[in-house]
Amino acid sequence: MMDSLVFQRLRRLRATPASRSLVRETRLHRGDFILPLFVVPGARVRKEVPSMPGVFNLSVDQAVEEARQIRDAGIPAVILFGIPEEKNATATGAFVEHGIVQRAASALKQATPDLVVIADTCLCEYTNHGHCGILEGETVANDPTLEVLGRTAVSQARAGADWIAPSGMMDGMVAAIRAALDDAGFKHTPILSYAAKYASGFYGPFRDAAQSTPAFGDRRTHQMDPANRREALREIEEDLAEGADAVMVKPALAYLDIIREARDRFDAPLAAYQVSGEYSMIKAAGRNGWIDERRVALETLVSIKRAGADMILTYFALEACGWEEVG
Ligand code: PBG
Repeated sequence: MMDSLVFQRLRRLRATPASRSLVRETRLHRGDFILPLFVVPGARVRKEVPSMPGVFNLSVDQAVEEARQIRDAGIPAVILFGIPEEKNATATGAFVEHGIVQRAASALKQATPDLVVIADTCLCEYTNHGHCGILEGETVANDPTLEVLGRTAVSQARAGADWIAPSGMMDGMVAAIRAALDDAGFKHTPILSYAAKYASGFYGPFRDAAQSTPAFGDRRTHQMDPANRREALREIEEDLAEGADAVMVKPALAYLDIIREARDRFDAPLAAYQVSGEYSMIKAAGRNGWIDERRVALETLVSIKRAGADMILTYFALEACGWEEVG
């Protein structure tokens, strides 16, 4: 009776770990990772972010220590977020010569010159209202913000930042930053644009870590509606036309379809950001014994790569380098 059935035995190649290794289509590699760092004023500060176990607010000296470990682990890049001493309405802390990210970038380039230091370029950590730009009334004013983003990018590049990563979702931000960098002599500084960044609840823990929760309102007038797919492709197309060297989709797990479509549609390097909430959910459930933390973290990371991301920004980066599944 069985002899008359015709079917494929796909289980044959799954029989042993060695066989599964041979037919594995996607592999995680430490060379794909970018680790976010939160830099704060002071010295010897290493304060765990309550909603992000294993993630710390670091003073510059501690960030340097961390950078050495990151380099030794074989991770090629970090992305810097700064929490300034003082915030104001015009975000001057974002572009002053000795701002927090500027100090961190220059210290890291001295201590670990081979590490790619990426500067996140947004104003929300530097404004006293927590919005990503200059306000006119209660509106984030697009064009006045562009000028400040250009200045910020130039001061970050001057301090040693290797790549500039604008994350504010202002229209024209890539063109404005490209022009400002070129004018200041940074023609060779690449821009990794947060091109398709959604207005997401998954950023909650980050806003704790960066103290950047908006004082009123939300970011829905500039970040994207989670319901939209075609609009993400327009955003990416536009940023590439403005001169972005690489583009990002953010968050990652709830937007794997966007990552896949961006990969199929565009040939530019593609990054995906596994954001704070994605990390913290896995950590929290793991700590409760509800899931196997490491296994779930690996599963999400491999899904992001399988969807088509070349680079993954993840808070798991350093930990994951200790896992045998990561090359
Ligand atoms: C804006 C910025 C945010 C994140 C990265 N850049 C927060 C926001 O848009 O509110 C979120 C990253 C994360 O959640 O891990 N500077």
